[in-house]
Amino acid sequence: MTTSKQLEQLLELQARARLGGGQDKIDKQHAQGRLTARERIDLLLDPGSFEEFDRFKTHRCRNFGMEKTVFPGDGIVTGHGTVGGRIVYVYAQDFTVLGGSLSETMAEKICKLLELAMKNGAPVIGLNDSGGARIQEGIESLAGFSDIFLRNVMASGVVPQVSAILGPCAGGAVYSPALTDFIVMERMNSYMFLTGPKVVKSVCHEDVTTEELGGADMHSSKSGVCDYAAESTADAIAYIKRLLSFVPQNNLETAPILPCADPTERTSAALRAIVPDNTNAAYDMKQVILETVDDGDFFEIKENFAPNIIVGFARYNGVSVGIVANQPAYLSGVLDIDSSVKGARFVRFCDCFNIPLITFVDVPGFLPGTFQEYGGVIRNGAKMLYAYAEATVPKITVITRKAYGGAYCVMSSKHLRGDVNYAWPSAEVAVMGSRGAVEVLYSRQAKAAADPKAFLAEKEAEYQETVSNPYVAAERGYVDDVIDPATTRARVIRALSLTRNKRDVNPAKKHGNIPL
Ligand code: HXC
Repeated sequence: MTTSKQLEQLLELQARARLGGGQDKIDKQHAQGRLTARERIDLLLDPGSFEEFDRFKTHRCRNFGMEKTVFPGDGIVTGHGTVGGRIVYVYAQDFTVLGGSLSETMAEKICKLLELAMKNGAPVIGLNDSGGARIQEGIESLAGFSDIFLRNVMASGVVPQVSAILGPCAGGAVYSPALTDFIVMERMNSYMFLTGPKVVKSVCHEDVTTEELGGADMHSSKSGVCDYAAESTADAIAYIKRLLSFVPQNNLETAPILPCADPTERTSAALRAIVPDNTNAAYDMKQVILETVDDGDFFEIKENFAPNIIVGFARYNGVSVGIVANQPAYLSGVLDIDSSVKGARFVRFCDCFNIPLITFVDVPGFLPGTFQEYGGVIRNGAKMLYAYAEATVPKITVITRKAYGGAYCVMSSKHLRGDVNYAWPSAEVAVMGSRGAVEVLYSRQAKAAADPKAFLAEKEAEYQETVSNPYVAAERGYVDDVIDPATTRARVIRALSLTRNKRDVNPAKKHGNIPL
């Protein structure tokens, strides 16, 4: 029989665990506008769904007087609960306990969670706020980090892993999030870097602020480390919940199909007018996406990084899809190093988790020049090729305008196992644009012509008529159909329905060798 004294003891220990590093530390956290680990978990999970693991687990370090700073649960809260009724595993680093610094036992708690998540097939959400390796523990902490890294890698492609960065994240602490699928950072309160401004100053003689070095704005626009810079913790958590709604629980399932009130045959006359008459004029590809997806609801990933490519999730007739689209409104939608890496990583995530890919194409090619070549546009552009070629999920392509050169091949072309490839009448599927082509082919003759300008214009029109249209590709079956833009939604939905039971496999191998 459980006595009332035993129950009292349990309640007292639970209360102690809830206090983390103590009320004074909680107050300090609040004073900085930051929530505690438990408050963050409460924001994420459905009310009352949280079950905690290892709340009484403590560190074993006895160096530097550490026996006097033992807290139940140590610097992390771990467990599981539900988000929108679906199970997730969650951990939240507790900054009130020794700055959330990672001890050996904290690592054990995270590893246990990752292993359970893999075994039971549910996503893992990490809420990070940590000073990195626990200095007093030394090698044990480093070993703990390594154990986590290994499990992050083993879980990659098995269950979705999402990281929120809600405070400092330095040293080894950045690499576990970097191994996960998505990173959300809170603006103002969080940063990620290998080493802080002081060390940067002494080693590199650079003056840089914390924000400039590793803030959310920098990582969401320049480095591409972060997928979304949230305005607040609540915003970061809301982003994660929405993200989860589009993805399956694990690699053996498909994402939930939601009821759809938006008519599947809905046409959009606006799409007929969206591509400008001037083939070099910009337009906003996001409008094409918004016009076609269910209820105009598009969830963009990495919006501020390499905006010349758009990636994100949406639904067609309730079916979750990953959208990849060139953006003619930014750098003419060109493929460069950053956009290739952004696109390739997204394609691979979708392929890991059985999410069909819808690709909208308007791309003038790869960006030339020394900056790109020195940076390895060949190696990085090849990532995009590799990702599309290897992907076995349903791949549906709509060419709205330009599909030039290597970029034509890359963007989910028939040759890379595109399942259904449509083109609008405005599509130009060619080796290059008419101006460039004519200059290469006829520059010598133009010089000799009575009116070189008129000569080139005539040749350009001829090239446009002969090659720069969707019909040459359609004649060869590289484009399955040339469609009325207004019907794009209905055609994509039909293609999705057609490919619902698609089975495609790659040759047996240990793993491929994507050009990293
Ligand atoms: C032990 C730590 C700690 C750490 C912070 N604390 N970081 N304890 N190990 N790594 C403790 C502090 O002593 C303090 O304890 C409490 O946490 C809060 O820290 P403050 O410094 O008061 O907070 P704040 O001013 O907000 O600064 C936070 C911080 C700073 C920026 C994170 O604490 C910091 O720079 N910490 C060290 C970061 C770091 O270099 N980590 C090691 C990285 S190397 P009290 O008792 O006073 O409240 C690494 C290698 C791993 O991670 C490699 C794996 C591959």
